[in-house]
Amino acid sequence: ACSKQEPAAPAAASAPPPPAAARVLVVGTDAAYTPFESQNDKGEIVGFDIDVVKAVAQKAGIEVKFVNTPWEGIFNALDQGDRDLLVSAITITDERRQTMDFSQSYFDARQLIAVKNDSPVTKFDDIKTLKVGVQNGTTGDEVVGKLLGKSSTAIKRFESTPLALKELEAGGVQAVVADNGVVVHYIANNTAGGFKTVSDANFPVEKYGIAVKKGNTELLAKINQGLEGIRADGTYAKIYASHFGA
Ligand code: ARG
Repeated sequence: ACSKQEPAAPAAASAPPPPAAARVLVVGTDAAYTPFESQNDKGEIVGFDIDVVKAVAQKAGIEVKFVNTPWEGIFNALDQGDRDLLVSAITITDERRQTMDFSQSYFDARQLIAVKNDSPVTKFDDIKTLKVGVQNGTTGDEVVGKLLGKSSTAIKRFESTPLALKELEAGGVQAVVADNGVVVHYIANNTAGGFKTVSDANFPVEKYGIAVKKGNTELLAKINQGLEGIRADGTYAKIYASHFGA
């Protein structure tokens, strides 16, 4: 057998990267998800998730900046090291746990169905015969895929949840299944759309977590410590109330 040896790295060719704590960590977020993350008129990324991570960072003594990252590439960006962490209303699932690590949960959500006011839909099962819009690759996509069959042509997959809801308004789909907080917010702000919501107790509770690259236990520990800190000192409750009311 021939044993190959790596050539020695040239001395001082490049300075070692600064330790994680010393540089600004890049947070990926799909900022088309009001009230969790969105971009305001000034182009700043704002929302509940953003406030939580800013507060966590302050507690944990880390510096962060937010970079708008389309949902479809968000997990890959984390894996490639282009993002240090993700906050994007991400549901912690067993499948995702295989490829990334999650903080303790910071929010409970559930799927919710949006339909037009005159729709006969009263439960999840009723959407079986309809064209249904979802955001591609979300937990909404997953549950609808289970009901209609993953490759059903009745499932219309959109890059963002607002795009799916716009299609509902336009009549291209007859239902949209997405996270409750976003659906409720959208409908409240688009009263002209003529939407109503339908909840179904069979939808499981979904826990949002902050994601880090698999094995980044050091950063994960800091995030969890920060989350515990902001819960203990009332900061979390203040942030929650400012976005969702008391
Ligand atoms: N909670 C859902 C999921 O994890 C949807 C999240 C979508 N987030 C976003 N910012 N677009 O699949």
